[in-house]
This record gives sequence, C-alpha cells and structure tokens, in this order.
Amino acid sequence: MIVLETERLILRHFHLLDVAAMQRIFGDAEVMRFGPGVQTAEWIRNWVQGCLENYYPKWGFGPWAVVEKRRRETIGYCGLFYFPDVARQPEVEIGYRLARAVWGQGYATEAVLAVRDYAFNVLCLQRLIAMIDPQNVPSIRVAEKAGMRYEKDVMFEGYTHPDHVYAMANPAQGVSS
Ligand SMILES: CC(C)(COP(=O)(O)OP(=O)(O)OC[C@H]1O[C@@H](n2cnc3c(N)ncnc32)[C@H](O)[C@@H]1OP(=O)(O)O)[C@@H](O)C(=O)NCCC(=O)NCCS
Repeated sequence: MIVLETERLILRHFHLLDVAAMQRIFGDAEVMRFGPGVQTAEWIRNWVQGCLENYYPKWGFGPWAVVEKRRRETIGYCGLFYFPDVARQPEVEIGYRLARAVWGQGYATEAVLAVRDYAFNVLCLQRLIAMIDPQNVPSIRVAEKAGMRYEKDVMFEGYTHPDHVYAMANPAQGVSS
C-alpha cells in the first residue's frame, strides 16, 4: 500500500520480499554505526514482519519502505515509531535509514519532509521527535532541515552516552479558525 509519493520517492508498506533489499541497510556496518550494529538475516525478517503484523495494524503508521522511483528499488526506510517513555512521556519519532549507495542526494530529507507533513496534516499528531547520536551529523542535518531543534538529552538503558532529542510541534497547533 502506497502511503506517500514525492518527486523521486515512493513510501509504501513493507512486504516480505523487501527482506533482501533491507539486508543492504541492516547488514551494512557503516549504515548501522549509530544504532544497534549489523543485524542477521533472521533479525531483518522479523523486523519486516513486525512492521506488517504489529506496527501497521496497531498504530496505523510505522516504518515505511522507501522506493527510488528511477530504479524501482527499495533503498531503506523512513517512518514513524511510537515510544511509550522518552524522559517519562510518550513520543512519536521520525526514523530513517538509507542504503549507503544513495546517501548525499537529498533522499532522506525528501522522505522526512513528506513523513513530517503526513504526521502533522493527516495523522494530526501534535509533536514529533528524532533521537540522534550527537556524532551523527548527517542525521542531525536532516532533522534540522525538517524544522526540528535540539531540545534535551535522553539516556537509554544500555547506552554509554545520551542521545540528543530533536523536536518540533505541529505548526497548526494553537491556530484559531
Ligand atoms: C542519515 C541519513 C539517512 C541521511 O541520508 P541522505 O539521503 O544522505 O541525507 P540528505 O542528503 O537528505 O541530507 C544529509 C545532510 O547531511 C549533510 N552531511 C552529510 N555528511 C556530512 C558530514 N560528514 N558532515 C556534515 N554534514 C554532512 C549533507 O551535506 C546534507 O546536508 P545539506 O543538504 O545541508 O548539504 C543516512 O546518512 C543514513 O542512512 N545514515 C545511517 C543511518 C542513520 O544514522 N539514521 C539516522 C538515525 S538517527
């Protein structure tokens, strides 16, 4: 199911045949540097299956497959993740990870802007965050280009240093009709 379309990208629900393409993302140490590290084929299959069985039916959103229109290829994910407790409050995060071969072409920004607008205008979320390793400069840049600003640090269990929370409120909040 197609969720969003931009000039160069389609964002759609994952299906199980995407597992092979996602190997290029979750199986690449450089892509996974700021994250849980390289993942096994079984983990990747469970992750994709989790999108289908847990995320989309339960939340109506989740991580979506990012498809490059030009080459008709799945190049990563971009989407929304629910976190029940970030510094003692529930949050929805914009998350994104793309194959190394396509970095530096503005694809993440293009996908994130579309997901941000969908989250605010269609899902009517009041607020979005991104939790980013302070050394992950490209990701911080993408969050900033989407209008997010540094808000606070958050320390997760098992982490050796805090992530930075970037956040923005729905711009329509407080606008009277
Ligand atoms: C983060 C990521 C999705 C960005 O994808 P992308 O398509 O290359 O991003 P864009 O091209 O839209 O924008 C990247 C921005 O970072 C900048 N950038 C990239 N590398 C940089 C560096 N080493 N130092 C400073 N800026 C850098 C780019 O110049 C660009 O900013 P600009 O438009 O102002 O020039 C991609 O690098 C990725 O998948 N990384 C691994 C996974 C990850 O870390 N995900 C985020 C977890 S919070």
